[in-house]
Parts: sequence; structure tokens; C-alpha cells
Amino acid sequence: MSNSFGNLFTLTTFGESHGPAIGGVIDGCPAGITLDLEAIQHELDRRKPGQSKITTQRKEPDQVEFLSGIFEGKTTGTSIGFQIKNTNQKSKDYSHNVDVYRPSHADYTYDQKYGIRDHRGGGRSSARETANWIVGGAVAKAILRDIKITAFTSSVGDIFIDKPYQALNFSEIEKNMVRCADPNIAEQMIKHISEVKKNGDTVGGTITCVIQNVPAGLGEPIFNKLHAELGKAMLSINAVKGFEYGSGFCGAKMKGSDHNDLFNPDGSTKTNLSGGIQGGISNGMDIYFRVAFKPVATLIQKQNTIDASGNVVEMQGRGRHDPCVVPRAVPIVEALSAMVMADAYLLSRARS
Ligand SMILES: Cc1cc2nc3c(=O)[nH]c(=O)nc-3n(C[C@H](O)[C@H](O)[C@H](O)COP(=O)(O)O)c2cc1C
Repeated sequence: MSNSFGNLFTLTTFGESHGPAIGGVIDGCPAGITLDLEAIQHELDRRKPGQSKITTQRKEPDQVEFLSGIFEGKTTGTSIGFQIKNTNQKSKDYSHNVDVYRPSHADYTYDQKYGIRDHRGGGRSSARETANWIVGGAVAKAILRDIKITAFTSSVGDIFIDKPYQALNFSEIEKNMVRCADPNIAEQMIKHISEVKKNGDTVGGTITCVIQNVPAGLGEPIFNKLHAELGKAMLSINAVKGFEYGSGFCGAKMKGSDHNDLFNPDGSTKTNLSGGIQGGISNGMDIYFRVAFKPVATLIQKQNTIDASGNVVEMQGRGRHDPCVVPRAVPIVEALSAMVMADAYLLSRARS
């Protein structure tokens, strides 16, 4: 099982949703980086369950404990070990799927691959794992300092922000529970998620991420291109179905004469349909991309499925689930972006 992420700045994780704890080891972090432990905890609080009426009502404090690699608030250059205890498991909520495969979950594929499965809360396939990534991302952000990473909810169902990100006020994002950069659209999104939830249903959406103050020259030219690394990171997030950067799929409908980013004398470009990356390497313009999330698989509605013997059975989701993962996934997108950018930055430093 592939439990490690990154090349120079790496995160290796462990843990299951209903085990005693989750955690990880961060390696490759330079010595002498000041870590603001409160800021790291704040990032975890942005992801944690039970933070608003439109997220799962599971209450989990997600308190991170660092075990190594930090001395007097600074990294020591040795491996940074941490754990987050699981404190709010209700394993009985999952007794109905010991032998039954939830549709569009990872139950069937884990059984096919390993022949054994921790059915409680999805085990290792649970998005609880993403709390580990938040810790990795928060440490990566401390390395990046000037590089600014901002993600926000850009659509829920068919409600979307119809403006370029430059026209948005990023200070609005954390003011509403859906983390949308447009307060009027946020209200519509919240109403929609609440209605969908009332019917025991779920809804998908997209997150836009913007990375600013990126120096030109980060990223590898052939494999491990910067956009490929970002894409791999985003497609590793549970429930993600799509990734596009720059002009993305819209670019496929355009002519080259409209699409080319013409240069200014200082090397910046007049437009930025390249999304800040050319030939796999950052060009100094903003990097921006969108990530598509599917509607959560667990419905509080009856559905037909099969058990491990292939018998058709009826099941209905129980327990506490997110009607839309997008608001909680905003800090996850930022965290993984930070790990990719820190890795690219350290690789570029190693070369010079
Ligand atoms: C922050 C977050 C929270 C999630 N919460 C739930 C949930 O409450 N219920 C659920 O069925 N899936 C939830 N998921 C999605 C599942 O983890 C995911 O769909 C499942 O592991 C199958 O993987 P796949 O959809 O990537 O194929 C969540 C995903 C994220 C990113």
C-alpha cells in the first residue's frame, strides 16, 4: 500500500478511522523552520467534522500531538512524528456493512485487493486520513512563507461563482460555512446543501485553488511536471473525480490565437491561460486549478447493493455523514498544494 507522498519533502501516514489513532512522519523538512503550533491546530479545526450544520455531526477534536523533530518551536531537521487520537468512534453505526458493499465506496475494491477489510467507518479508505495531510500541509506552508495558497468552494451542484478569481475577495471565504468566496452565492449553496441533506441525499461540487507569489523555475521538465504533481495530489483526495488547471477543458474549444499568453518585457504574461505553468515549470504567474468532487456515496436512503456472496440486499446508510464534502475539503486542497510546492521548492534548492 502506498502510504508515502512527496520526493524530498515526504509524508508517510498510518491509521484507520476507528483505530486508536492516526498519524504520520514528515521527513525532509529543513532544520530551523519556525512552526506555529496554534496555526497548525487552526488548520485542523478548519477540516474537522461537526463544525457547522452542513457537515457531518461527528464531533472529533482532532488534536495533534507532535512526538519528535521539533525543539523550542523550531524544526530540528530530524523526522517530525505526530499523532491524532480517534476519540469519537461509533463503530456500531457500521455494523450493517460488515459483509455488505456500500455502492461507490471502497469496500468492494479493498476486499478484492486484500481479502480482509476493516468495515468500521471505511477503515483506511476513510477521509479521516486527510487530517494527517493537513498537518503535513501546515508544516509545508511554514517552509513556503511567501507563497500564498488560497482555496475556496466555487460550485455546489449547479450553483457556481460566475466570476474570475481575480474579481473575488478572498477575505470572504472563511466568513461563511460553505467556504465560498462570494457571500451571495454562499447563501444559495448553503440552502441547497441543507435541502439535499433533509432528503437524505448528497451533492457534489468544485474547489478552486490559487497559488500566488510563486517564483519562476519550480517543477520538473519531463516526468513529475509541476501540474502533474498537483494533479496527482488532488486526485488522491477521497471523492475527487476531476482536475483541471489554467484554461483546462475550456482551452480545448479555443484557437491558439486566442489562447497564447503574450509576454510583457519583464517575462510576465498579459493573460494566464497557461495557469502559471509551462513545460511543467512555474513561470512566475499565478497557478490556479479546479478540483471536482462527487456527491458523497453514503445516502440516508434505501439502495440495492450486494453482499460478499453476491446476494442482492437492500441497505441504507447510517451514522454521521457529510451531505457535501466540499466545504471541509477546502483546507485539504490547500494542504496538499503546500506539500507539492514545498517539495518542488526544496528540489529546486537542492539543484542550485
Ligand atoms: C472531507 C471528506 C469527508 C468525507 N466524508 C464522507 C462521508 O461522510 N461519507 C461518505 O460516504 N464519504 C465521505 N467522503 C468520501 C469517501 O471517503 C470516498 O468517497 C470513499 O473513500 C471512496 O473513494 P472514492 O470516492 O475516491 O472512489 C469524504 C471525503 C472527504 C474528502
